[in-house]
Amino acid sequence: MNSEFDQLLSRPRRLRRNENIRRLVRETYLHRDDLIAPVFVIAGSNIKNEIPSMPDVFQYSIDRLNEEMDALLKAGITRVILFGIPAAKDEVGSDAISDDGIIQQAIRYIKQTYSDIFVITDVCMCEYTDHGHCGIIVDGDVHNDQTLTYLQRQVVSHAKAGADMVAPSGMMDGMISAIRTGLNDHGFNSIPIMSYAVKYSSAFYGPFREAADSTPHFGDRKTYQMDPANVREGIKEALLDVDEGADIIMVKPALAYLDIISMVKENTLLPVACYNVSGEYSMIKAAAQKGWIDEDKVMMESLISMKRAGADIIITYFAKQASSLLNKV
Ligand code: PBG
Repeated sequence: MNSEFDQLLSRPRRLRRNENIRRLVRETYLHRDDLIAPVFVIAGSNIKNEIPSMPDVFQYSIDRLNEEMDALLKAGITRVILFGIPAAKDEVGSDAISDDGIIQQAIRYIKQTYSDIFVITDVCMCEYTDHGHCGIIVDGDVHNDQTLTYLQRQVVSHAKAGADMVAPSGMMDGMISAIRTGLNDHGFNSIPIMSYAVKYSSAFYGPFREAADSTPHFGDRKTYQMDPANVREGIKEALLDVDEGADIIMVKPALAYLDIISMVKENTLLPVACYNVSGEYSMIKAAAQKGWIDEDKVMMESLISMKRAGADIIITYFAKQASSLLNKV
């Protein structure tokens, strides 16, 4: 039918007429190779505890870790980042630097049993200290430089146990150069560092702190994690870590910080990772449980938004679920 608009030249809808042409012009793809799955390892035996605020996410004791590793491999996920919940915590987080600590044991188990799995370790003290802070406390605050010495010992013990990559998340100044030096001094100069370079002090970590039992017992993390209002400071943090020898730069959280992901991507040449954190996961799960949103669709839309913003790598509790869906298309 003729209309007065027949001469309209530009009709973007031409490229949206069916799925085939939409796929032809699609700009961004999510691939299972983009994904890293967080795994919680707890001391003890025969434990598989679901985290109440994170449906389908569990803490596993090492003797049951095979259940999660098998499920990940089946879904096509071959990279994990490990978080530990030790049997005992103390003021200086001794378990974190012990060659027999929970993470060191888990690394050895996974590397011996699953040679195809790439093991990344979270390098931080908050899960191991009795006060729940990310470092050594002096005069009521985390002491930067004393903490660096501990982080060096922690990464070296992870590397000795067989970790493939380390991911420091404590937001201490000079953390990357300290860790690079520590690794190099012990013959581990080929182990890459994925730095949680731009990490905000975020309420979106709430469910994780339940999962990892790492809520600070006094104060908060604002003296080391970043103010959510800042962008330029985030670029500064990223560039410092590039100079200090980081191999991958991470932005965390992801969904409320897509602008930061874009800016970091534009301002660095390293691969950019983002952490789709626990609170982002729990919100989708909770709304889906109530029947308010379509879980799979909202999950995929969130993950593609991180790719679109510039993330090359996404750490996500949805890794298995998203990968299984991707395998179907
Ligand atoms: C610190 C660490 C945290 C997360 C990853 N590493 C918590 C924190 O900084 O309090 C949060 C991850 C998430 O919320 O999923 N070791």
